[in-house]
Amino acid sequence: SQSAAPPETTKQVTKTSETATRTITILYGSETGNSQTIAEQLNDQLKASDRKTVISSMDDFKAKKLKEVEDLLIVTATHGEGDPPDNAIQFHEFLLGRKAPKLDSVRFSVLSLGDESYEHFCQTGKDFDKRLEELGATRIHPRVDCDVDYEELAEEWMNGVLKVLNEDSQTQASEQQVPSSPAEAPIYSKSNPYPAEVLENIDLSGRGSNKETRHIELSLENSNLSYEPGDCLAIYPKNNPELVQAVINKLDWNAEQTIPINKQGEIRSIQEALTSIFEITKLTKGMLEKAAGFFDNEKLTKLIEDSDKMREYIHGRDLLDLILDFTPSNLDPASLMHWLRKIPARQYSISSSYKANPDEVHLTIATVRYHTYGRDRHGVCSGEIAERIQPGDQLNVYVHRNPNFKFPFDDSTPVIMIGPGTGVAPFRGYIEEREELELKGKTWLFFGDQHFRSDFLYQVDWQNWLKNGYLSRMDVAFSRDSAEKIYVQHRMLEKAKELFSWLEQGAHIYVCGDEKRMAKDVHQTLLTIIEQEGKLSSTEAEAFLNQLKQEKRYQRDVY
Ligand code: 2AM
Repeated sequence: SQSAAPPETTKQVTKTSETATRTITILYGSETGNSQTIAEQLNDQLKASDRKTVISSMDDFKAKKLKEVEDLLIVTATHGEGDPPDNAIQFHEFLLGRKAPKLDSVRFSVLSLGDESYEHFCQTGKDFDKRLEELGATRIHPRVDCDVDYEELAEEWMNGVLKVLNEDSQTQASEQQVPSSPAEAPIYSKSNPYPAEVLENIDLSGRGSNKETRHIELSLENSNLSYEPGDCLAIYPKNNPELVQAVINKLDWNAEQTIPINKQGEIRSIQEALTSIFEITKLTKGMLEKAAGFFDNEKLTKLIEDSDKMREYIHGRDLLDLILDFTPSNLDPASLMHWLRKIPARQYSISSSYKANPDEVHLTIATVRYHTYGRDRHGVCSGEIAERIQPGDQLNVYVHRNPNFKFPFDDSTPVIMIGPGTGVAPFRGYIEEREELELKGKTWLFFGDQHFRSDFLYQVDWQNWLKNGYLSRMDVAFSRDSAEKIYVQHRMLEKAKELFSWLEQGAHIYVCGDEKRMAKDVHQTLLTIIEQEGKLSSTEAEAFLNQLKQEKRYQRDVY
């Protein structure tokens, strides 16, 4: 389900020993840290072969320096609707803008990370790749676009790039391989998840709630895994057994038959492959295009020619819909690995403190339920947890560090936390950790949800922390308890003066939760407050907030 970018050509690069002395600039645009990690690995590799490197997040890189760049390697994620990640926005705007310099002497390559289930898959990487060529730079290795399970392709890209760069220095054998990760790497990781026992699985929502929000506690005993406030836990879900069964029945397959599941030739039963290995709940364009090659169904071949129709079709449908609507003739189960993608892990913000619960990790998960095309459906992971997971069961997990959501641990930095709904999760972990460290100081939580009675997540915890001083202020917004909707940003605006004075005292602001509506509106409200209370123009207010972002005093974990 991944692809190397097709049409652009890779220009032949002249190999001279001169190129070996060129400085290699590695820039990353990272939302949750994956791109940064890859960029850092690449940097380590280059350093190990004595190359001169500069590594930086895009927004920390002075755009003026672009003219001096020699070899440029870009690793970038793409966000939401094809937008650059937070720490790449300004660089992206500059490079794609009219003021970007000619880059005739620059050599480059781009690695883009993305999620194929999004319409604008890897868009930011594509933007950079195209633009660098337009500006006259020479592509030394084709761009690679990676889906959620990016490791293998990212490594291929890295090896490819290193090969070109090392050929320059003429000292390295052209077959150089990337050494495997250092020995101190944790045993449990993305590629080797830890089977964590479920200790608790509680519905936090009270009677009358429109929602089901669950509090999950997992054991990390003997796992060697640890985490910090702001980090995420990733879970590999298992598909709904009824859906698996329905697919197998419809295709008239033998569930016990074994099939290959990857290039390395590992095998699993069809049952196991459709349950734990392949994504079957969500369709992607890439998957449909590949499936068409195996389905031998004219209607499907036709559908994939129309990008808009395909997008409309995919939405809210799963593999069972696909095979019911476009029944394949004689589909070979061994072909699955060629057109289905691996089940990506689902990431959740951790809602506990490791220091306070060293053998545990807690999560706050809203169950996703919907009804489309005649069937009741669930989110793959939240549905599994709500419907099929009990204490004593295991979930395969790993910790995903989030370098872009990190809190201060001192008693002099005021902290403002905005987390409606499940967005409150990381703040519970943070305050719990402050309590463990006996850190008092100024902390202010804005929480919102639909109803006070049924949706006040962790109400007792917050009230205790308010009482014993680990939380100094809390403002809540229950949107459906009054005729008019009240949201967290309305509360922020009511307290504009104080909020701004906290900022003047050096406060950090954190926003977690829904990206499209909440985080956008909260951002706008912050601008309004800064403009109004700081007596600034809208441009100045924007610069002010940008400055906070640069100083890592404004951080977001939004989805
Ligand atoms: P609603 O469902 O009543 O619209 C957590 O989901 C809370 O966020 C709910 O109270 C929800 O309100 C609210 N919410 C919805 N849209 C929002 C927005 N644009 N800004 C802030 N909160 C929002």
